[in-house]
Amino acid sequence: MTFIGRLVSALFLSILLPTAAFAWPWSTDMMNQPSIKPQETYKGKIFSFPARSVPTIATLTTVANRDEAKSLQNPIEATAGSMKMGKRLFAIYCSACHGALGKADSPISPKIGAIDLTTEYIQKDLTEGWIFGTITFGGAIMPAYGKPGEGGGSNDLSVEERWHVVNYVRNQLAKQPAAKVASATSGESIRK
Ligand code: HEC
Repeated sequence: MTFIGRLVSALFLSILLPTAAFAWPWSTDMMNQPSIKPQETYKGKIFSFPARSVPTIATLTTVANRDEAKSLQNPIEATAGSMKMGKRLFAIYCSACHGALGKADSPISPKIGAIDLTTEYIQKDLTEGWIFGTITFGGAIMPAYGKPGEGGGSNDLSVEERWHVVNYVRNQLAKQPAAKVASATSGESIRK
């Protein structure tokens, strides 16, 4: 067979047998790199999971919905440490919709209807328990952060973390100078 003839028949074969073509070693190359899989030992040691990759804090939410959460007493004092943690979590989980300043100042806020969290309604009228319940179970549109599964709940925030966010929202969010928050949570300061 001529070279061209062989090429044509090889092409023809690969069209006839596409699965065989896919099964060539190249399709698994990426899998076979040195990596330590979960539960696998390396030099006689099993590594722990990276932080936050697996929920380890097993404190369960004891209330079933926002109404039940309404009268919950905040068990975590609003210390500087708690608010610092709350601020960090707020920047990660809340600011995309409610804005870095909490004033519905993100580009998404008006599109999704996320409200200003520095108003009297949030700061005075609602109970801390209700805000905790909102973070836990979500709202009409807002996603849930303390409940897995249905309704898009992520269960990303532990009970303690949710109270840290409540402490931050109620004690610091409305008071902080705009410039300071913006530089801490946006890319502005990095670009300068
Ligand atoms: C995906 C967008 C989104 C994210 C992220 C988000 N929210 Fe909301 N949030 C909303 C929207 C929209 C509303 C108003 C409608 C509703 O209640 O669902 C709202 C309402 C609220 C309310 C008022 C509830 C009420 O009863 O009126 C509070 C308090 C609140 N959010 C706090 C938070 C906190 C704290 C976080 C971070 C843990 C957060 N939100 C994350 C979209 C979001």
